[in-house]
Amino acid sequence: MTAPLTISQALQLSDRLADASRTLDAQLLLAHALNCSPAYLRTWPEKALAAAQQDHYLSLLDQRAQGHPVAHLIGEQAFWTLNLEVSPETLIPRADTECLVEQALLLDLPEDAHVLDLGTGTGAIALALASEHKEWKVTASDFSAQIIALAERNAQRHALTHVRFFCSVWFDALPLETYDLIISNPPYIAPNDAHLSQGDLRFEAQTALVADAHGLADIQTIVANAPGYLKPNGYLMLEHGYDQAQAVQTIMCDAGFTAVHSEKDYGGNVRLTMGVRPA
Ligand SMILES: C[S@@+](CC[C@H](N)C(=O)[O-])C[C@H]1O[C@@H](n2cnc3c(N)ncnc32)[C@H](O)[C@@H]1O
Repeated sequence: MTAPLTISQALQLSDRLADASRTLDAQLLLAHALNCSPAYLRTWPEKALAAAQQDHYLSLLDQRAQGHPVAHLIGEQAFWTLNLEVSPETLIPRADTECLVEQALLLDLPEDAHVLDLGTGTGAIALALASEHKEWKVTASDFSAQIIALAERNAQRHALTHVRFFCSVWFDALPLETYDLIISNPPYIAPNDAHLSQGDLRFEAQTALVADAHGLADIQTIVANAPGYLKPNGYLMLEHGYDQAQAVQTIMCDAGFTAVHSEKDYGGNVRLTMGVRPA
């Protein structure tokens, strides 16, 4: 019988992973298999793994080597200040989407702002905003009941129970109310985009990623309908692809939005565009 791996030996198996983030990935997977914090791994490098822990870790490492996202393997992803449960039915929240949250927090909104997050997925944007402004009335929607159940669990997890959730295909089943801000990270990847067959994207729901009309179909639907759900001078803020800012600006200007402009994400790419509903 071979000796069990120690924590330090287990972490060295990160060389089985091709990814640039393999050291961190291995730490997250091992911490998950051992049900401990990454700090524990650093404190006890010589500790031996129990057989079940070792089997679990090696299986996770194997799945990661095949390309499965770490977030799916450990069941959660950090976003803003929140740890969110994830599922293969919707997008794993991305750090770049935190720029959307950051920009929304910079807007001149009333103290009791009404905010709508369309295509909320895990609830990432809605819950981040609700966690910063307990006095805001935040509404979030997505098209599937299972995804809404996931977002609701994340709201419970962080005691953000003042967020309302609706199962709705974009605006279709929402109550006819008006908002100070409508925010969305909708699907915006073109169906033939090569990135869809690479990396983590292969394992994420196409319904969260892909839109017709060169990736712009859902953005067109949201922009066309948003004015009916925005208060006068209300904001619409959208995340989009790195090469879509001009197209999204045109769609928003054509729909009558004013003060239309775009902002960069943390990587320096122009990835979000916003505008104001005319009074
Ligand atoms: C790019 S993901 C964004 C998820 C989350 N807001 C985030 O930033 O992590 C797009 C989301 O839009 C939802 N979605 C796609 N088509 C939709 C539709 N027709 N109506 C409502 N939601 C839709 C997907 O289920 C998915 O959760």
